[in-house]
Amino acid sequence: MGKAKVTFQRVPFETDGAWRSEIAIHGDEVQVWGIVLEVGHSELPRAASILSHDERERAERLISEEHRSRSIAAHAMLRAILSRYCGASPDQLAIRRTSDGKPVLSDYPSIRFNLTHSHGRALIAVARDREVGVDLEQVRREVDVVRLARRFLSEKDLTCIEGGDPAQRHERFLKAWVAREAVFKADGRGMTFPLHRDYLELTGDGTEGCLVLGDAASDEKRRRVQFLSLGSGWIGAVAAEGMDWTVTVCNLSKFQINRGT
Ligand SMILES: CC(C)(COP(=O)(O)OP(=O)(O)OC[C@H]1O[C@@H](n2cnc3c(N)ncnc32)[C@H](O)[C@@H]1OP(=O)(O)O)[C@@H](O)C(=O)NCCC(=O)NCCS
Repeated sequence: MGKAKVTFQRVPFETDGAWRSEIAIHGDEVQVWGIVLEVGHSELPRAASILSHDERERAERLISEEHRSRSIAAHAMLRAILSRYCGASPDQLAIRRTSDGKPVLSDYPSIRFNLTHSHGRALIAVARDREVGVDLEQVRREVDVVRLARRFLSEKDLTCIEGGDPAQRHERFLKAWVAREAVFKADGRGMTFPLHRDYLELTGDGTEGCLVLGDAASDEKRRRVQFLSLGSGWIGAVAAEGMDWTVTVCNLSKFQINRGT
């Protein structure tokens, strides 16, 4: 399967009446939504009204107005999207956090999801009856990724990052990073250090891979990761339980779902 191509999209909040129809999701799918976290002044009260008290409080605690409005947009979009899987109103969804902080749906345990946001962009991954994790990072060329890899990642990752085309080092480093975040977020533990026991094994054309976990039992050692094609300057990955799933990229603006893109 090729790299799943995700376009970040923005949906104005005044059109949320069009969200009513339900979305079907098969057990072998992971559906991914790409979102631009922009919400205009006039839309903000409406977006905020969908949120829980806790989500509103978390947003209010953020110092910059930009971060506040992005947080509101991310959580409002998350609720709007999840509501279509659950057939429930966005503001009525009960989202609780596990003891490790992973948000989960209390009343719809089959629907699993994960959110990542960075610099005004977000990804939401949804699956049925399998845990899912997603991560997104912006490529920052000024960062010394070889130094970071030496400090945090495994020898195998370092060899991969240092080898090959030097112009692609940041991408190789970030693949090893987002793969870990996606797998650990699927597990619900979040980014857990140390990271050097595990390594990323890329397969085929590098659009997929397995994170090999150094400290796991043998049947849980290899965790499948699918990289997402997000356009220049971004690296993202999704991970889910098991090996038998494919990524479906969802189209926010047209409410079209393109299986296997
Ligand atoms: C969760 C974590 C992976 C976030 O990484 P990040 O790259 O900064 O942020 P991302 O945008 O990718 O993900 C953030 C989202 O992941 C989700 N999330 C939070 N905790 C999570 C967990 N344990 N597992 C899976 N997803 C989680 C949330 O939706 C969060 O967004 P929100 O806070 O706006 O609701 C990272 O903060 C972490 O590892 N935290 C958990 C462990 C921790 O805090 N340990 C400290 C104890 S010593």
